[in-house]
Amino acid sequence: MKIILLGAPGAGKGTVAKLLTEHDGSVQISTGDILRAAVKEESPMGKEAKGYMDRGDLVPDALIMQMMEVRLQQPDCRKGFILDGFPRTIPQAEELEKLLMRQGIRLDFVVNLEVPRAVILDRLTTRRTCANPDCQEIYNIKSNPPKADGTCIKCGSPTIQRADETEEAISFRLETYMAKTAPLIDFYGKKGMLKNFESVSSQETVSNIKGVLKST
Ligand code: AP5
Repeated sequence: MKIILLGAPGAGKGTVAKLLTEHDGSVQISTGDILRAAVKEESPMGKEAKGYMDRGDLVPDALIMQMMEVRLQQPDCRKGFILDGFPRTIPQAEELEKLLMRQGIRLDFVVNLEVPRAVILDRLTTRRTCANPDCQEIYNIKSNPPKADGTCIKCGSPTIQRADETEEAISFRLETYMAKTAPLIDFYGKKGMLKNFESVSSQETVSNIKGVLKST
């Protein structure tokens, strides 16, 4: 599959993307995960991105496009990919179209996960993420907790709250989403590529996406 996952912070993009990779070996490409790994490594890209990320702002489009041009050419993308958190602005979406055209790749469709704001706030304050950059399993202390001692069920590493999970950063991320990312719903809607899903249970969302994939 070659799909884009759109949705506000905490809508469940990462959770759904991870479940979808089990469907046909398509790879999850999360720009947030790539950036967090770069911040941890203290690479030049990580150093540039850190300030934006910690306050919940978007990293500049040019940096993201440079990163994605390289990533989409890696061999593991040939089987398919799930773009999680990218594109996030109209300029990124326009650049992505050109990039995919150059590489002869056609997207299947764009998934929009619709979740009420109150649910999002609750999910983000209760999320825990595996600290191991090769795992990054997503947990939730209410709906899907890690082990009782707070370690990851998959790899045993500690689970943590992300640096952008302060109340201030969460509210700035939601504002940024409304101003810069939500216009993509209309952008892809006008192109007839958008599929809206109410993100109630992630398993249900995954079955619905698989259903649409079968019928396209
Ligand atoms: P990124 O990592 O992409 O963060 P985000 O979009 O804010 O999304 P999240 O990862 O917070 O949430 P999610 O929708 O994946 O939800 P999750 O599955 O974890 O980006 C971080 C930062 O990087 C950005 O702020 C920006 O600075 C930068 N960045 C990244 N991409 C960029 C780009 N393209 N351009 C510019 N800057 C960029 O679920 C959340 C919680 O809810 C979890 O605890 C989960 O267990 C729980 N949950 C999920 N689904 C359900 C469900 N159905 N029922 C109950 N609980 C659920």
